[in-house]
Amino acid sequence: MAFPPGFLDELRGRLSLAGLVGRRVRLLRRGREYAGLCPFHNEKTPSFYVVEDKGFFHCFGCGAHGDAIGFAMRADNLDFLEAVEKLAAEAGLAVPKSTPEERERAQRQKTLQEALEAAAAFYEGRLWGPAGVAARDYLRGRDLDEATIRHFRLGCAPADRQALRRALLPEFPEPLLIEAGLLRKPEEGEAYDYFRERVMFPILDRGGRVIAFGGRVIGAGEPKYLNSPETPVFEKGRVLYGWAGARAALRLGGGENLVVSEGYMDVIALHRAGFKAAVAPLGTALTEAHLAELWRLAPEPVLCFDGDQAGERAAARALRRALPLLRPGQSLLFASLPAGEDPDSLIRTEGRAAFEEALRAARPLSRVLWELAVAARPVDTPERRADLERRLEEEIRLIADRAVQSEYRRFLRERLYEASRLARPAFGPAREPRRRHVSDGPPRPPRSPERAQRELFLGLLLRRPEFIEEFCEELSRIEFPEPELDRLRQAILGMLPLRPDLDAERLQQHLGQCGFADLVGGLEANIAAHAGFASRGGDDPEVIRRGLKEPLQLLRMRGAGDHAEAERAFAADPSVENWQRLQALKERDAQEGPIGGQVC
Ligand code: UTP
Ligand code: MN
Repeated sequence: MAFPPGFLDELRGRLSLAGLVGRRVRLLRRGREYAGLCPFHNEKTPSFYVVEDKGFFHCFGCGAHGDAIGFAMRADNLDFLEAVEKLAAEAGLAVPKSTPEERERAQRQKTLQEALEAAAAFYEGRLWGPAGVAARDYLRGRDLDEATIRHFRLGCAPADRQALRRALLPEFPEPLLIEAGLLRKPEEGEAYDYFRERVMFPILDRGGRVIAFGGRVIGAGEPKYLNSPETPVFEKGRVLYGWAGARAALRLGGGENLVVSEGYMDVIALHRAGFKAAVAPLGTALTEAHLAELWRLAPEPVLCFDGDQAGERAAARALRRALPLLRPGQSLLFASLPAGEDPDSLIRTEGRAAFEEALRAARPLSRVLWELAVAARPVDTPERRADLERRLEEEIRLIADRAVQSEYRRFLRERLYEASRLARPAFGPAREPRRRHVSDGPPRPPRSPERAQRELFLGLLLRRPEFIEEFCEELSRIEFPEPELDRLRQAILGMLPLRPDLDAERLQQHLGQCGFADLVGGLEANIAAHAGFASRGGDDPEVIRRGLKEPLQLLRMRGAGDHAEAERAFAADPSVENWQRLQALKERDAQEGPIGGQVC
């Protein structure tokens, strides 16, 4: 036998064992298994079982046992290679040519797996033994019950540097244990255990075999997680923690979401809370191989991201990686969690309903693409909209599938059209410099009374989104020198064409998920401090309308100040910019009247 690592798994993964067996044996469903009369010995009552999600068959009568390849060998009387070739042809896979080195590696692979399995059993035994108290307490402190701990085969590595080595050496040669990543060999001296004093998370391959470990310090310490080194059976960038379990859960049906989180503990906490189809990469960003693994399980996996800026960046990265791989029906959903939370912490503090809600609010990739592009830069002039269009087109071109690409083009054109209808060109050639704030970073400008007015205006709109349409012209015209307020304004304008029906709660929640949670919270506080009316006559539309107009008038007065200021600036420095700024201000006053004026 002689195949590159992963080929046989790939083959087994593509075959349905029950389907294969079912062609020869009449199978009846028995819970999660199938039963039938054994084809390998004579019997009258069924003692032959197929365990589809584990990929093996077993006969309690004659002891016949094996996987899809074993079944083809026995049933068709083939040797191993012939059986693989036959099945590969059925599964549409090309059989790789073999070399002697590959043969040797394949041989070694089996024994590496045996060593890893023995290690998993060792760690598991330690956890439940007397030396496992601290690790057990730790896991219970994290809200895990025994069934969950056993389900994931969690274990613990003792502090003793030789514990695993001593336990496995009689059975396995030391070089093999080193190659399996279980021992570390220093330049000088004896090999010692790779994992010590850690809670152990076995990492399984698609077939449920142990191929590596993650180890977490018990309590605080560095590094928090240690993963097995890469080995012939473990390629970190391809493996998803929880994959085999997720497949088993999804096969049961029930319309469960495939949830993609960041860490071991998230997968386990999700499982415990009833979200049994959960996976996580091993501390790396999602690779193309990961995406392919996800889509083997479900057409639209839901990626969870922390609702802060780092989370948004990670979402953007995953999105770009996925674009070339989109196919009809095959995409991603994006759920954002409250800033600073992962699924584990969210479920623990807010309960499973909070996570359910985050899943429900997950956004399709197309929408995230649009919102990221709109939030990146203002799109309030023809040039800026053209720039947005260009940026979107660049992304669309990454989509390899023609049908999906053209649907994206149509979708984004519609959004652009609606956005430009709503957000008329903002006034203000003097706007450009404000971007400096973004790159300058701190110190933050002091919070001015005008800012309070701008915040009041935005805050009221968020509280009563039904007024956004009425005031969207003003919204696109007032100057927002504060970059974060301006981004929020852009986000509101960008979102409007997508979801004109959003109520206050949804809108705020959604903005929270786009990274504006703190800002939106601050706006609420500002209303409380500056607008007593909002709590007094808060439900009367006229009161709200007046409340919205008030800050506009004050901001308009600032506009007059701008005018005088522009004249002074031009007198002092008759540059082209200053001239243009002054002209533009005059033009606005002539054409539009005062901003606040038309609504009073
Ligand atoms: P996190 O730091 O988000 O930890 O790492 P976590 O999953 O929330 O863990 P708990 O809840 O504190 O126990 C996410 C993932 O990144 C990888 C691990 O796979 C982890 O699950 N990681 C993290 C490492 O590989 N090494 C580290 O030191 C930290
Ligand atoms: Mn965590």
